[in-house]
This record gives sequence, structure tokens and C-alpha cells, in this order.
Amino acid sequence: MSTQTPNSTKATSSPKSTSLSQDELKALVGAQALKYVKPGDIIGVGTGSTVNHFIKALGADQALCKSLKGAVSSSQATTALLNNLGVPVLETSSVDSLSIYIDGADEIDHFGCMIKGGGAALTREKIVASLAKTFICIADESKLVQTLGQFPLPVEIIPMAASQLIRSFSAIGGSAKLRLNNNQPLVTDNGQFILDVHGLQIKDPKAFESMVSQWAGVVTVGVFAFQKASLCLLATTEGVKTIEF
Ligand code: 5RP
Repeated sequence: MSTQTPNSTKATSSPKSTSLSQDELKALVGAQALKYVKPGDIIGVGTGSTVNHFIKALGADQALCKSLKGAVSSSQATTALLNNLGVPVLETSSVDSLSIYIDGADEIDHFGCMIKGGGAALTREKIVASLAKTFICIADESKLVQTLGQFPLPVEIIPMAASQLIRSFSAIGGSAKLRLNNNQPLVTDNGQFILDVHGLQIKDPKAFESMVSQWAGVVTVGVFAFQKASLCLLATTEGVKTIEF
């Protein structure tokens, strides 16, 4: 049973716009996230197409970009983009805390709990998120759900545990499949595999995250309930809404 209280939608910014594509919505919200970046900050940066729009917007603001002390990155892909901008990418272990972490989500519920890992970066995302005081989720409106689980849940696993974990998910009603890349198991930045679990309805995200995190062979489960969003910038056809949790 969750003891969380539901969100409040604080404001709608940006002019009314209709018929934007999903990528245009991602670009809109990526640019909006810039206003949370302060000159001289060290920021945490997530992974994915929405974050790529944020990084692009950051690159367009050279003064802000150059002022940053650095960034902590959640993936090799994001590190490469930040390096291109000349933003110093710091070792995660050299940073005690971050004021903000900006990242996308595959699903976010009305309490700020998320499914993440569509881009296979969930482990580093959870590590960097856990350093941040404020997790700013940037997402288009298709990501907002009542109950997590429609999006297949990514779980990073130790390869030798794949078969037993597939059976464990089956026992709780999920159908887990090894994520492939060119017909071979996809290998994460951490050298591990990903299971995508279909058919779950995650009604109590904290309980679910706790349970699956304890299964032998699980590196990281893609439910972010303990590292949930502090706020969500949600791009809608009516502008960007700010939802606080
Ligand atoms: C990567 C993630 C991403 O945040 C998530 O997949 C959303 O991606 P996109 O912004 O491309 O829709 O968790 O591991």
C-alpha cells in the first residue's frame, strides 16, 4: 500500500501549440529543462532521445554551457555528446551530490514513480539519480500513466541468471524476454544483459522495486520508486506542464 500523496500540477508554460510530433514535444521539453540549470552547476544528465534534445539546447546556450563546472553522465552515449560540447564529464565517484539530475522516462505515474531503461542505461541512471537532490523528469505526455507496466519493464541482469530470472518473472505474471541487438543479447555499458518484462501491472512500485532488487542476478530493476522524480516537465500539445510530486 502506497503512502504517497498525488502530484500537483503547478503551471502551464509555452504557447498553445497543436499537432506537434512526439519528437517535437521532446524537443520542447528538452529546451524547457534548461531553466533549471544554473551557471557554475555540476549537473547529472540522463540518457535517451529527450535528453539528447536537452543537450542540444544546452549546446545552443554557449554562455551557460561554458559556465558549467561539469556533468555526471549516465551512459557512454551521453558522455560522447557532452564531450562534443566541451562540458567536462566528471567521474561519478568524485562527486558527493548534485543539485539536479535531468532524465527522461519510459513511463511516469501520478506520484513521480517511473519505468526507465528503454535505452539500456538504467543502472547508471539510478546511480546518478541517487546523488541528486532534485530529479527533473522530462517527458512527452504519452509517458504519463495511471499504473506502471504497460511499457515492458527493463531489468539489467547478470547473464548467467537469465533463465532463472525469466522463470521468476513468469511466476508473478510477467513474460520476460532477453533484449537483442543484431540477433545477439544486447550488452550494456556495464557488460551485462537486459530482460524486458511484458504483462506486469505495478500497483505498488516501492514494494515491487524492493522485491525484484533482491532476486539473485538482478543488477538493477527499471522501476524508479526510491529514486522517483521530484518534478516532471510534461510536454503536451497545450504546452509544457510542470508537475510537482
Ligand atoms: C534510458 C531511459 C530513457 O530515459 C527512456 O528510455 C526514455 O527515452 P526517450 O527520451 O528516448 O523516450 O531510461 O535508459
